[in-house]
Amino acid sequence: MDKIFIEGPNQLFGKVSISGAKNAALPILASSLLAKNTSIFKNIPKLGDVKTILILLKHLGVQVEVTQDAIKLCSDAVQRFEAPYDLVKTMRASILVLGPLIARFHRAVVSLPGGCAIGQRPVNLHLDALQKLGAEIKLQNGYVYAKSKRLIGTKIKFESVTVTGTENIMMAATLAKGGTQIVNAACEPEVIDLANALNAMGARISGAGTRVIEVEGVEALQGVNYSVMSDRIEAGTFLIAVSATGGDVLIQNCNPKYLSAAIDVLKKAGVKIQEQVSSMRVQSNGDLTAIKVETEPYPGFPTDLQAQLMAMLTQANGKSVIYENIFENRFNHVAEMQRMGAKIRIQDHKAHIFGKTPLTGAPLMATDLRASASLVIGGLVAKGRTEISRVYHLDRGYEALEEKLKVLGANIFRQKEGKEVANAERVSFL
Ligand code: UD1
Repeated sequence: MDKIFIEGPNQLFGKVSISGAKNAALPILASSLLAKNTSIFKNIPKLGDVKTILILLKHLGVQVEVTQDAIKLCSDAVQRFEAPYDLVKTMRASILVLGPLIARFHRAVVSLPGGCAIGQRPVNLHLDALQKLGAEIKLQNGYVYAKSKRLIGTKIKFESVTVTGTENIMMAATLAKGGTQIVNAACEPEVIDLANALNAMGARISGAGTRVIEVEGVEALQGVNYSVMSDRIEAGTFLIAVSATGGDVLIQNCNPKYLSAAIDVLKKAGVKIQEQVSSMRVQSNGDLTAIKVETEPYPGFPTDLQAQLMAMLTQANGKSVIYENIFENRFNHVAEMQRMGAKIRIQDHKAHIFGKTPLTGAPLMATDLRASASLVIGGLVAKGRTEISRVYHLDRGYEALEEKLKVLGANIFRQKEGKEVANAERVSFL
């Protein structure tokens, strides 16, 4: 397995360009199952989860062609309707093929994702909503078996906000007979991007980005040429990294509007951020103030930036508090940060971070995607060498993170599997 080494402390200067959004690319690639003819998608990031969804689509019989700057998908010859356990356990977002498969092919067998490192993450809300649209659903041997005639539009009220649940039902409803109203829908920008892609295919969706989405079912959707939005979580990760290490970076190809909650929080902590239409400049002298933050569905502070923010708050003066309201077990990074010297106390879904604490490099293990990013930030801040293993978690959701950080001046490198760092080199860092 690859490892990442960081020699710190680092400061970051220069320009970085943000890649396409993972969480928009996944549902949009899955939505190709709904459309006749070929769809061409651009600005798709090259990362592990995209590879996994392409393997899944190929498994179903979708023709997949990957070119330098686009992914072409044609689902007209789909002849399998099963998302197997091996793929779903690698990536929970595989559940996103369920809605499209039922809507267009009237059957689907999808492995239940099971728990994951950050919580139980059930899919009951997806299944209840599909049943309301007329699908027959049976759970057996760890799989969801779903079949239906043409789905029938209805009112779906989610009892709590679910991002992929909203996306699955929005996709399913595009081909239903009549109208569907989705109440208490997720407002995430990725939901809007998916709705835009579906509308370009011929769907009739309005209200995406608000709590009520209306979908008027149509007979068929057609292939589309669509470019995916940029990744607000990657942009937020760079914002927080520069805030933590100190430096001056222009983050390009991003929409600061989608990061207002994070920008407000960082400004409160003393970071200077100038926002333009599609870029932002972040300047930090490393002198940070403690803050209180809670994670919330969009437009609140995203849970996907919580771990990274915690790494930064180890460097803020005073006691910070983070409430994690979305996932019940999303503090896996804490034990690793404590091994770097961080002073953090967990109490239920609340973390108290005591700063400013000098961090020292240590061997660390990544436990999930965003936790890995937080350990990279910790490593950038820490004095000495940090060695992060299990970076496949990082590779699931970040395109070339260490390459981008290197350009900003970070002393970071990747050791490819099987290529040991020479002992002499190891010792020189001790
Ligand atoms: C999506 C994002 C993920 C982000 C999360 C919250 C993608 C591919 N992933 O995940 O990066 O961290 O939103 O912003 O877009 N829940 C249920 N029953 C369900 C569905 C969800 O109880 O049927 C609960 C979950 O356990 C969780 C909460 O609802 O506590 C929110 O989860 P949800 O919004 O569904 O997250 P995902 O869509 O899986």
